[in-house]
Amino acid sequence: MALENLRETLDAAQAMMGERLGAFRPEVGLILGSGLGPLAERIADPIFIPFGEVPGMGVSTANGHVGRFVAGELGGKRVLAMQGRLHGYEGYTAQEVAFPVWLMARLGAATLVTTNAAGAINESFRVGDFCIMTDQLNFTGRNPVTGTEPDAMAPRFFSMLDAYDPSLRQLARQTAEALAIPVQEGVYLGLLGPSFETPAEIRMFRAWGADTVAMSVCEEVIAARHVGLRVLGISLVSNMACGVEGASPSDEEVHEVAQTREADFCRLLEGILQAM
Ligand code: HPA
Repeated sequence: MALENLRETLDAAQAMMGERLGAFRPEVGLILGSGLGPLAERIADPIFIPFGEVPGMGVSTANGHVGRFVAGELGGKRVLAMQGRLHGYEGYTAQEVAFPVWLMARLGAATLVTTNAAGAINESFRVGDFCIMTDQLNFTGRNPVTGTEPDAMAPRFFSMLDAYDPSLRQLARQTAEALAIPVQEGVYLGLLGPSFETPAEIRMFRAWGADTVAMSVCEEVIAARHVGLRVLGISLVSNMACGVEGASPSDEEVHEVAQTREADFCRLLEGILQAM
């Protein structure tokens, strides 16, 4: 599905979502990655909207991605959560992946909190760690802001300095400390996938300054910055990246680790929302 009429499709999606949400106006958009969807079950007074019902949006085909919006209150904030996301490796274009972020902004969100499961390239990280993203390396080979339609929404040339908001990063760090949940900080590298990386690629990414790697987030963050959303990104280290300490990543491992870290992930994210 190509988004030839991006702005018109966003208009239709905004109208449809607005009807479902009624008086509810989200402050924070929240994207819940692989195995991290259970946080959405904690949203109070939820309104559920499956992705497939939203004009311009495809359905989630990734393992463990429910594929719906859940709107309601979490950590004292009005959130519009995505329980699952769309990925390039599912066959979606960069604009299709970014579409819900532009939609969240249109519906009133000023902040995007995006989460994922990631492999650790940094050898001092451990499986089960949380990592606050400090910056990104977009190696998906794609950018959602290409073409004339995004340029008509907001200027196509915009700075990616401090794309991951420094004050939100500090707030996340302080919250984690107060909750006694250890967190790492690092540069995130995003790829198209779906094959995991080779050990040679991981060695190269380490030399380039990457600490974690996965198959999402970069395009969302570019779209968020395009329309001026503040961004916080948090990864759960679900595995050591391929070849690190002999690791050979698997989808099963990613989901198993997410399950074991679910309680702390919920505490951390609710704490951060509370502190915002
Ligand atoms: N590589 C790419 N994507 C991932 C990984 C990984 O090691 N872990 C979770 N998502």
